[in-house]
Amino acid sequence: MRIKLAAGNWKMNGVQASLAEISALSDHTQGPSEVAICPPATLVAAAVAIAGDVAIGGQDCHAKTSGAHTGDISAEMLKDAGAAYVITGHSERREDHSESDADVNAKTQAGWAAGLSVILCIGESLEERESGATLDRMAAQMAASVPDGATGANLVIAYEPIWAIGTGKVPSLDEIAEVHAFIRKTLTDRFGDEGAKMRVLYGGSVKPSNAAEIFAVADVDGALVGGASLKAADFSGIIEALN
Ligand code: G3P
Repeated sequence: MRIKLAAGNWKMNGVQASLAEISALSDHTQGPSEVAICPPATLVAAAVAIAGDVAIGGQDCHAKTSGAHTGDISAEMLKDAGAAYVITGHSERREDHSESDADVNAKTQAGWAAGLSVILCIGESLEERESGATLDRMAAQMAASVPDGATGANLVIAYEPIWAIGTGKVPSLDEIAEVHAFIRKTLTDRFGDEGAKMRVLYGGSVKPSNAAEIFAVADVDGALVGGASLKAADFSGIIEALN
């Protein structure tokens, strides 16, 4: 039985005053689903201090533990700040910072070594979707970016079609079902029982208004939410749809 997960990715948004949005989620964390927020790195420690039942995560980590890497943060630092999760492989990191599947693989291993659970993102471009290459792309990304040793406890996969992120466009429910079933089969073929325990989230323009129908799709174990996670009023609607 997989515990469903509503995870918010604040991206490069949020200042101290935004922590009130995390506090305001406390009325919505008593249900059966897990709730997580990944604020910017500057807020991780402060978020942990007020998070209550909300798990806090980082949005990225370096593959190494320490050293001469100006501006980067390590998984160990996130763990030290009280984080439980780290996101790796978000398409914005892959694009803005030219992160390869090999980089994502190394960062994921760094997250595990620090004791974090990793939310590893995969997803196709619009061109790949339109040319019918989506499943091949997912297979390739998973083969190269998911390290050996993945378990239901240390890995969450987030399927985020790049063209659905922040656009208001969402794949059809059949399209979501097809990709999630494919991801699940790929995980169980490779990791057996552990693959069956891994949560697979959908991400891309999830809102309170479309969350329930997306969560009703087989093998959707929750969502990785961007814009609609910034305000407790929106994110709580998504949490309630999951419960
Ligand atoms: O990581 C979450 C994400 O990329 C989806 O963003 O704003 O479309 O919910 P959004």
